[in-house]
Parts: sequence; C-alpha cells; structure tokens
Amino acid sequence: MCDFCNHMHHDEPVNQMPLIGDKAPEFIANTTNGKINFPADYSGKWVILFSHPADFTPVCTTEFMTFQSMINDFNKLNTDIIGLSVGTLTGHLAWIKAIKEIQYKDWKDMQITFPIIDDMNMEIAKKYGMIHDNESNNKTVRAVFIIDPVGIIRTILYYPLTIGRNFDEIKRTLIALQTTDAFQVATPADWMPGDAVVVPAPTTTDAMNSRLKNNDKNLDVKAWFLTLKRVSLTDIEKALAKQTSKKKK
Ligand code: BEZ
Repeated sequence: MCDFCNHMHHDEPVNQMPLIGDKAPEFIANTTNGKINFPADYSGKWVILFSHPADFTPVCTTEFMTFQSMINDFNKLNTDIIGLSVGTLTGHLAWIKAIKEIQYKDWKDMQITFPIIDDMNMEIAKKYGMIHDNESNNKTVRAVFIIDPVGIIRTILYYPLTIGRNFDEIKRTLIALQTTDAFQVATPADWMPGDAVVVPAPTTTDAMNSRLKNNDKNLDVKAWFLTLKRVSLTDIEKALAKQTSKKKK
C-alpha cells in the first residue's frame, strides 16, 4: 500500500493479463514441432499466438484447418503461427493425425504444420490471460495475440468457446498493423488492404489551416481532423518486403 495515496502500485502487472503495448511474457514450451523459447526464437518475425479450448473438438477442428489453409499467406507476411491448449503433446499429435483424415470445405489430407504448445499445467495460458474462469476453468478461451518482431503485443482478440474465429479478420489486422507501422498512418473502419488510410490530424492552428487549404492531390480532406490518403497495394507490398528483408539481415 502506498503511504501517500493509499493505493497499490506495481512495477509489473500482478495477476493480470498482458495488454496491448506490453512485452509478450516469456516462456519455454514443448510443442508438436519441438522446444521453443519465446519470444527469443522469433526475433525479427511477427507471431500469432492463439489458444483453442481442446483437441478433438469440432469448432477447433474447423479453426485449425482454416488457419492451416492460410499458412502461406501468413508466412509471406513474415509471420509465424503458434497454437496452445491445455493438452498434452500426445493429445495434440493424435488430433493432428485425425485432422489429416478429415475432408472439410475444399481441404483434405491436411497436415497441420504450425507448432502446438503442451500447456497441461496452464502455466502459459495463465500468463497470457487465456483462462477465463467463469467460461471454463480448465479450457483456454479462443485468444489471439498478435506480437511484433520486437516482442511487443500489438493486438488481442478474445472469443468464447462456442464461436469460431474469423481468420480473414486476423490477417486483415496483421496487414493493417504492418501498414500503419510502415507509413505512420492509421486505418479507418472496415479498412481492407488497398483502401485509403487515415493520416494524423494536425496539432497546431497553423497546421490545421494549412490542411484545410490542402493542395496535395493525394490527400482527401473530409475535415481538418479527418484526412484520407491513398496507399496502393503495391506500395504496401513494397514497404512490407523492405521491412522483412531489413529484419533478416
Ligand atoms: C469446439 O471446439 O467445438 C468447442 C470446444 C469447447 C467448447 C465448445 C465447443
């Protein structure tokens, strides 16, 4: 208790899930692809760390097949995927083998290639706030953490046990993060790659007046505080390729 203000102060969150902007909590884990040391092993890459409630469950099976079907897209975006549930490696492996036998949508003979963490003791799930006791005290909810190449959590999504996630939205969010980083912009509602982005609002009277008198034909000034700018898909792809090659050096 603080002697001055009668409140608790903590340098680090205590018993609290990490938040956007926080360093991703570190862990060492056994996975279906071997041991990983996170985030050190993934330095220079974006990572999507996601939890699913349990192996051999129907919604999770559709999610795994959907995510796997997009794996090349994510790899091209310099992004690795890591799955986690409160389950053993044996359980994960048996489920992956069973998924290979399933025909769903256009997919069959599908090999899950991303690692799945054995988190039987819920150590990592608890570190990441993936156990929501009143939803289930022994299954992880459907959490998604998008973590950047320097290990900072940039987006967190949560869905309940019964609702399968929208993986196009996860990909859209990842591209939006990479685009906003590359161009120092923001993205408007329902933005899709190729749509106009939002440029920062002016912060002085002079800048506001000059924005209103805009003669930059790339800018579409809706109001002094809302200005759109076109960034082509090619520009985005070029910028992202540059980021990736810089990280790999
Ligand atoms: C499922 O993946 O189908 C599921 C998992 C836990 C609770 C409900 C559904």
